[in-house]
Amino acid sequence: MTAHEAAAEAIRPRLLGRTPEVAITLGSGLGGLASRITSAVRIPYEDIPGFHAPSVEGHKGELVCGQLAGKTVLAQSGRFHMYEGYSAQVAVLPVRTFHALGIQTLIVTNAAGGVNRSFGPGTIMLINDHLNMSGRTPLEGPVVAGDQRFPDMTEAYDKELQAMARDVAAKAGIAMAEGVYLALLGPSYETPSEVRMFERFGADAVGMSTAVEVIAARARGMRCLGFSTVTNAAAGTTAALLSHAEVMAVAGQVGGRVATIIEGVIARM
Ligand code: HPA
Repeated sequence: MTAHEAAAEAIRPRLLGRTPEVAITLGSGLGGLASRITSAVRIPYEDIPGFHAPSVEGHKGELVCGQLAGKTVLAQSGRFHMYEGYSAQVAVLPVRTFHALGIQTLIVTNAAGGVNRSFGPGTIMLINDHLNMSGRTPLEGPVVAGDQRFPDMTEAYDKELQAMARDVAAKAGIAMAEGVYLALLGPSYETPSEVRMFERFGADAVGMSTAVEVIAARARGMRCLGFSTVTNAAAGTTAALLSHAEVMAVAGQVGGRVATIIEGVIARM
């Protein structure tokens, strides 16, 4: 049995007969969305084979299944970042597990630095596309059963879901920028010279997650939607220095607005 099948087998009886339609991966400081889920069942990672206790502050370590905007959802509170020493395979274990549970739609959120100089702290960015510069891919090696060998990435972020997000944000009066997310391995933040290079590459925001998860999801044909919370101006674009404490504080302030957009999209799905 594969790791994701084993994880799905442990999770399935805990869902009390419910079938989640959407999975939501919660980034740093965005855990507040999980508290909007009603009739919630919480499944701690220690009860799921292959799921590790998160080591990063702001990441919890549980799955939360319940109702959000009239649909059954499964929220992932706590990521496995590759900078913690996890392989890309482990980083995407939750995504493959969600797919094994029958989930076809993945919503990813993250905290990111603003490379685009008009994206100040607190900007919500709808992810139009990504640049995977983490140096890793979850598809390396023998094909995992159910994956495509050469998945197309032309529309990695689903156009229809993006259109819904635009509409929901506009109707709710929530300002939402759009752009390209650049994924790095981390954990050091970027140097100012790297940020200038990424700006020329076409990046609007930079972070340490998401791209490998979306690659794994696309290899299994899942629809993806992504949001970055810009928690800080990327290094060197302002005089400010970067800290994880600031990242979490700003992400926490903006989390409610991101959650409102996600709820609106789920209601329309
Ligand atoms: N760089 C990389 N990752 C991040 C940043 C950043 O500036 N802010 C939040 N996550």
